[in-house]
Amino acid sequence: MTGKIIPVPPFDCIVFGGAGDLAERKLIPALYHRQCTGQLSESSRIIGVSRSPMSDIEYCDFAVQAIKTHVNKEDVSATQLRQFLSRLSYLSVDATSNVGWDKLKQKVENESAKVRAFYLALGPALFGDIAVRLGANGLVTSDTRIIVEKPVGNNLRTAQALNDRLGKVFSENQIFRIDHYLGKETVQNLMALRFANVLYEPLWNSDHIDNVQITVSESVGLEDRAGYYDHAGALRDMVQNHLLQLLCLVAMEPPAMLDANAVRDEKLKILHSLAPINAGNVGKCTIRGQYLAGTVADKSVKSYLEDLGKEKSNTETFVALKIDIANWRWAGTPFYLRTGKRMTKRVSEITVTFKSVPHSIFDKSAGEITANRLVIRLQPNEGVSQWLMIKDPGPGTTRLQHVSLDMNFSNAFAGRNPDAYERLLMDVMRGDQTLFMRRDEVDAAWQWIDPIHQGWEKIGQTVDGYKAGTWGPLRSIAMIERDSRTWNNSV
Ligand code: BG6
Repeated sequence: MTGKIIPVPPFDCIVFGGAGDLAERKLIPALYHRQCTGQLSESSRIIGVSRSPMSDIEYCDFAVQAIKTHVNKEDVSATQLRQFLSRLSYLSVDATSNVGWDKLKQKVENESAKVRAFYLALGPALFGDIAVRLGANGLVTSDTRIIVEKPVGNNLRTAQALNDRLGKVFSENQIFRIDHYLGKETVQNLMALRFANVLYEPLWNSDHIDNVQITVSESVGLEDRAGYYDHAGALRDMVQNHLLQLLCLVAMEPPAMLDANAVRDEKLKILHSLAPINAGNVGKCTIRGQYLAGTVADKSVKSYLEDLGKEKSNTETFVALKIDIANWRWAGTPFYLRTGKRMTKRVSEITVTFKSVPHSIFDKSAGEITANRLVIRLQPNEGVSQWLMIKDPGPGTTRLQHVSLDMNFSNAFAGRNPDAYERLLMDVMRGDQTLFMRRDEVDAAWQWIDPIHQGWEKIGQTVDGYKAGTWGPLRSIAMIERDSRTWNNSV
């Protein structure tokens, strides 16, 4: 699935948290893959930075381990690895004091003609301080970019405070807020599907679409993230960013062109059109859940509280929402979103269910006519299925069947499916912000999310237990069935 390779300008990519988990699992492997395609110019460098002392050689060992663990064996070549390692170096810099900043300055100073990308792959508590120090140490040129991982804040107030601090040093077009869902191949394909085909657009509205469902279920539990997750919960961790971004791409008007601001303007309009959920309707429009002990993929797993090591927590590991978009295109078509940990399996999928035919010309004996459905599978088995009614082949009376035209991307396109970070990192170097969140999008998302949290608190909405390995609390099924619809569990 690898597309045409467009070289990126020479860069210095300075990774704060360079020996951390994200660097190991995602950034080093992504940059290595890009090296193998020939996309990195000869002079591009990767500089790992963190507080602990480490030599360049030790950092190369770390990178080799990361590549051996997270890159398929057949993609690791000794020549490429050697070239990749020659780009690597390491500096010990303390993000919270002046220690090490001079060395960093010396290292990049003579390379001012290059793109300079500071990747903050560490806890958000340090984002603001690092940005300020980058500015104070004169490290920010006009070709400098800063990349921040989520969470950008914990609510509107904290997001604004962080964005204000970043904004004092960097202009908005230098700030790259990562939502890695936007880098996923199939998510980008949503735009191709909608705007490079004439088929769907005339039907893409509430006259023809009955409902849209977005499911992002995970089989993993808390992992090692208790400190962060128990203060976040599924609404902040997944809905505020990934699921709302998916909703925006499904619901937005066609942008005039594939330009960062044109796309983000349209997404922003959708965020502003979301009907409020607050204390008045939160009990009806949202379900919160927390996983209990159960079985996932034939393995017994502990409950959230056991994973957390606490007796009590009201943090949701699952959330389902019914969302109305108050605009001309979507009024009357609900969007149902659900996401959770320790569910039946890992799957991210968007299901667009069209309305039923207005009148059936067929006899009852032909069977029921099921509404057309478009299913976009983001992961795993990336692809698209269009469900249609057809006649069962053969003589005799007409019998109708609901069948899918299936496209599985890995069968349709040869080659490796690049990880989201590969695309996103190269976009940073090119200075293309289309797949990154603009400040006003982040603000608008929090503006809509905050009243849900306040509503939960106000009405005392607690979490429903759900057995690990299921599709979430029974009440989330009841929520959609109340509207005479069902969750699409075709996955
Ligand atoms: C992250 C969340 O943003 O996305 C995690 O913080 C979640 O809790 C992860 O597990 C899911 O990403 P993916 O790409 O595995 O679907």
